[in-house]
Parts: sequence; C-alpha cells; structure tokens
Amino acid sequence: MSEVAYVNGRYVPTRDATVNVEDRGYQFADGVYEVIAVAGSRLVDLEPHLTRLESSLSNLEIEWPCSARVLKIILAQLVKRNRLENGIVYLQITRGVASRNHAFPIAKTRPSLVVTTSRTAGPSAKAFSEGVKVVTMPKNRWRRPDIKSVSLLPNVLAKQFAVLNGAFETWFVDSEQGITEGSSTNAWIVVEGQEIITRPLGHDILAGITRMKLMELAQEGNLRVTERIFTVDEALNAEEAFITSTTSFVMPVINIDGKKIGSGKPGDVTKNLLALYQEHFAKSEKL
Ligand SMILES: Cc1ncc(COP(=O)(O)O)c(C=O)c1O
Repeated sequence: MSEVAYVNGRYVPTRDATVNVEDRGYQFADGVYEVIAVAGSRLVDLEPHLTRLESSLSNLEIEWPCSARVLKIILAQLVKRNRLENGIVYLQITRGVASRNHAFPIAKTRPSLVVTTSRTAGPSAKAFSEGVKVVTMPKNRWRRPDIKSVSLLPNVLAKQFAVLNGAFETWFVDSEQGITEGSSTNAWIVVEGQEIITRPLGHDILAGITRMKLMELAQEGNLRVTERIFTVDEALNAEEAFITSTTSFVMPVINIDGKKIGSGKPGDVTKNLLALYQEHFAKSEKL
C-alpha cells in the first residue's frame, strides 16, 4: 500500500507529494511543525500538541491554515487512510508561497499545511533495557528553541555528532555549563534522595509534551520533581539520567561524554517513570 500525504487541501500518494519551490518553509525555514505519536490508531496527547502549535504559530505571526477542528479531521483521516496503528504523524505549517524576500510578504500568503505519517518503530527494546549514551556540545541554536520551528540545522549537526561518537543523543550546554536539552529530546537527571531534575521552561528549551506529561505522572505518583538548571558536572555525578520525547518516550541514559552514570545500567527511578509513561501512552483517547 502506498502511503498517503496531505498537502494543502489534497490527499496524495506520498511519493507524488510536492510543495512549491517558492514556499517560505523551503527557502527560509519559515515554518513550524509538530510530531505526534500514534498508538493503536489514536493520537497521543493531541490537545497539548495543538496548544504548543498555536504558541509556535502566534510567536512567528503565521496564521492557522484551517481551524483546529478541521486539522483534527485531517489528522484522523490520514491515520485512517494509511491504516496507521503505531507510528507518528508529522505536520508542518509554513508562512506559504511568495517570491523570495526575507521580510514577511506584503500581500497576505496562504499558510501551507503538509501532513505525513510514518510507521517508525522507534528506539529498539535493547535501547530501553540497556540504556543509551549521550555526548555534550556547546549550544549553537538560536535564542528561541521554545518555538518549534523547522529551522533545525544545529539539531541535525548535533544528532550527527552523536552518531559519529557512537551515542544516541547530544545534549546542548549553555555558556554557564548548564544543560539545556537534547537535539530532539528534553534532558533529565536523578540525584541523591531520588530527586528528579529537569530544566525549567523558558525561551531556551522546547516545552516537550512528553516532559509535561511525565511531570504530571510523577507528581501523581508522589515522586519528587524539581525544575532547575543542572550542569554537566552534576549530570556526570548523577545517580541516573534519561531523556524524553514523543519518539523516545523515557529513554535511560547510562553514559555521558564517556563517563558511566550511576551503576552504568538504567536506574530504578527511570524504569518506574518509563512504566508510568507507557501506561499513559496505552490509554490515549480515540479522536
Ligand atoms: C529540541 C527538542 N527538545 C525536546 C523535544 C521533545 O518534545 P516532545 O516531548 O514534545 O516530543 C523535541 C522533540 O522533537 C525537540 O526537538
């Protein structure tokens, strides 16, 4: 079965799906995106993803290409047409098509909407059971990573840096040695007393939906979560570490920059959080 994509009002075979060469997303990365997990044909945490999309769009003064209600119909249609049970939906909205000029077009453009699906299997069972390695590098992103912009070149280079170093992810480090986030994940450590630490929200990290859900689940389970900046040194000396994202869930980190974290195996707090998240994931509501 050939996959179907949604492009500006039409459902088309993905292999034939095209965008205009003057789309500002293509020329300037002038657009935003969301990645939403699909579990049992249900879109996981759809509402918070749409809330974050609204925030990204309004920060960049890009209009919605359609109402949230219609967008939900499109997403559900695509999941149905592709008979997608487990995987992800990718949606991208750009400022639209205009002749090339950096400033926003004077004549109003129609925002472009593209949606695709993928049956990605996600990380292996081995990665979850054995944990993964992380490396660090100086943060070289712009000052607003809270906007989920399609401008991801620093993230691409950071992920490639991880691959070249035999790691799963790269954590960005700010000028004060604080860890901000991963190339496509949020960063967490667990320190003495089972205290779970993650960087507070602000302009310098993406407000991960997995991060948000996990905080709720941890608080419901009476686990101690502190939102504060932590440094590379603290991470290297932490008892446990992990990363979160829509596609990596709660992934144990057992090595940072070549140094073993804790026992060098996924820790109990991380395993407990992964179990809580998996339970939440399995319960998501049908559209
Ligand atoms: C830079 C960055 N931080 C964090 C995340 C995690 O966000 P979420 O949990 O919503 O997938 C992502 C996801 O793509 C990301 O790109």
